[in-house]
Amino acid sequence: MARLVVTGGAGFIGSNFVHHVVSHTDHHVTVLDKLTYAGNRRSLDGLPDDRLAFVHGDIADAPLVDELFRSADAVIHYAAESHNDNSLDDPRPFLETNIIGTYTLLEAARRHDTRFHHISTDEVYGDLELDDPQRFTESTPYNPSSPYSSTKAGSDLLVRAWVRSFGVRATISNCSNNYGPYQHVEKFIPRQITNVIRDIQPRLYGAGENVRDWIHADDHSSAVLTILEKGTIGETYLIGADGEKNNKDVVEMILQLMGRPRDAYDHVTDRAGHDMRYAIDSTKLRAELGWRPSFQDFEAGLAATIQWYRENEDWWAPTKDRVEAFYASKGQ
Ligand code: NAD
Ligand code: TYD
Repeated sequence: MARLVVTGGAGFIGSNFVHHVVSHTDHHVTVLDKLTYAGNRRSLDGLPDDRLAFVHGDIADAPLVDELFRSADAVIHYAAESHNDNSLDDPRPFLETNIIGTYTLLEAARRHDTRFHHISTDEVYGDLELDDPQRFTESTPYNPSSPYSSTKAGSDLLVRAWVRSFGVRATISNCSNNYGPYQHVEKFIPRQITNVIRDIQPRLYGAGENVRDWIHADDHSSAVLTILEKGTIGETYLIGADGEKNNKDVVEMILQLMGRPRDAYDHVTDRAGHDMRYAIDSTKLRAELGWRPSFQDFEAGLAATIQWYRENEDWWAPTKDRVEAFYASKGQ
């Protein structure tokens, strides 16, 4: 049994990871989470007390972080400001958490020689043209577009530097867009599902031709566990499940699965600097570490996600009105 610290474990992907670890291993998990607007303690409900401890705090709080690293076998770092639209509105928290927060964790990993895994995004690579035959690989040059993706790129580079300069035992993974339960309603898929539940028309930015490479959050979790167990220190692994779809097709699929006409959505103001396409080549992770995704059928995964939002309205309802008011103020 290992003692894991999971930063951001009350957020979307972090909480999915904690559930995955509790059901697939005998590790003990300590979650460190600031419970920003994006964190929800209830996302960890139902997990046994003897497997989970929760610490309410900031990853940039050096004494607190030091104390937690002292007794950790490994730290998996999910905590971040994660939403592009928010980063266009107010970039500062993105610098504070994604850059200073990651720096604070790396210094503790260095002091205690702690195994560290850094969670990042494919958005650090910028975007691809719709007809580009290439997909992102571990050697694609960094070219981030937004305050969010540039701070994630900066955090990745800090991790690489701390590995090389100080011998920190770290790995990095860059994953494509996740979907599944516990995702905040500000994000594309849950926003549209909860709009339909509330009889609000889904909102598509611009023409909706932008492509995202969707992966179920549980597949992201199994990939991270695989890297923790078998990954090589200092290496980066791209995580993806060959799930490219454009936004228009995703909205139409949601509407169809929810029994509405496929064209019952609105086109709204496009996002500034909107990345056109992300696409992951995960050959390295599959060939070197033997990982495979389990969720092969996007439509089935989406239907299960819709069912989760229908059954858990009390989880998302408290934040829905504020999110829609924010978007409405920007014509979105
Ligand atoms: P999220 O916004 O749902 O959750 C972030 C969590 O971090 C929240 O619980 C929040 O309270 C916590 N947090 C924020 N600032 C903190 C701080 N200073 N100290 C402690 N906790 C803090 O984000 P998510 O979508 O679950 O993303 C998690 C990670 O995965 C991020 O690093 C993100 O860049 C990466 N990622 C996300 C996606 C995606 O599709 N959402 C894809 C690839 C990678
Ligand atoms: P999002 O979930 O914010 O993830 P990311 O910006 O990290 O890719 O958005 C996914 C895609 O959906 C992106 O192309 C922007 C688009 N989008 C909409 O069309 N409508 C919306 O209401 C939102 C939130 C996003």
